[in-house]
Amino acid sequence: MKNIILSLAICLPAFAQAQPSSQVAWTPEQLNFAKAGDPVKGQEKAKLCGGCHGEKGISASPSYPSLAGQLPTYLYKQLQDYSNGSRQDPMMDGVAKSLTPQDAADLAAWFASLPPAFQSRSPMVYEQAGNLVKNGDRDRMLPPCEVCHGSAGKGQAMDIPALSAQNAAYISFTLKAFKSGQRHNDIYGRMRILAESLSDQEIEELGFYYQNIRN
Ligand code: HEC
Ligand code: HEC
Repeated sequence: MKNIILSLAICLPAFAQAQPSSQVAWTPEQLNFAKAGDPVKGQEKAKLCGGCHGEKGISASPSYPSLAGQLPTYLYKQLQDYSNGSRQDPMMDGVAKSLTPQDAADLAAWFASLPPAFQSRSPMVYEQAGNLVKNGDRDRMLPPCEVCHGSAGKGQAMDIPALSAQNAAYISFTLKAFKSGQRHNDIYGRMRILAESLSDQEIEELGFYYQNIRN
């Protein structure tokens, strides 16, 4: 019996492990706390972040995410996820561990209050990506991205991030991380399941598609 349980556990896909993918549970208390950050205090603490994410939340390197205009609750969740190891990154782990939950809420409020970045001027039309975003793909049971991320890529609810004007290189990098399971902090595995069936070429194109959206 023990052996059967053991082999079952080994066969389960990464996202079905007993460990929850995130320790952030959206109780009304948690949600109110995450929404009630103080942007003025956040601005003060953001000095720690400017070197990588830019003083105004517009990141200096295309492989780092911009934070300006992102949903505060999404930012708060990510900081908590890095802090407790649900999401891992050598550059973020230490920073996030040094923050209290109050710091995280304040920083989230500050970056969310800033106007989003728009740096892309690419005249390219990304048809394949546009089709995935608007229609998904029935054969692969892929829902359209916009069902969750919104038609203008603005994100919604508490933890579905805005993607519009985000750096293409970062979007592709993080989609590949969901695809390989290296990033696994999405509650219910919502992104891992989808990313698994995207080709690397689609992932590249989706990055540019979203980077090109100005809200
Ligand atoms: C040394 C560079 C560096 C510093 C300093 C830094 N970050 Fe980051 N940050 C990164 C990188 C790189 C990523 C992407 C990591 C990954 O792929 O998981 C990231 C990711 C994030 C994310 C996730 C964004 C998303 O779209 O999912 C948040 C939120 C964040 N950082 C907030 C902060 C805050 C707040 C500070 C300051 C207290 C800070 N970072 C300081 C490099 C840095
Ligand atoms: C069922 C809802 C759902 C659908 C459909 C969906 N997403 Fe997501 N997506 C999410 C959630 C929830 C997260 C946040 C995960 C977390 O908590 O870290 C996310 C996160 C992301 C991120 C990470 C952003 C960041 O700043 O790190 C990218 C990129 C992304 N999605 C792209 C896509 C693309 C491209 C599609 C379509 C192929 C898609 N998503 C379809 C729910 C969805």
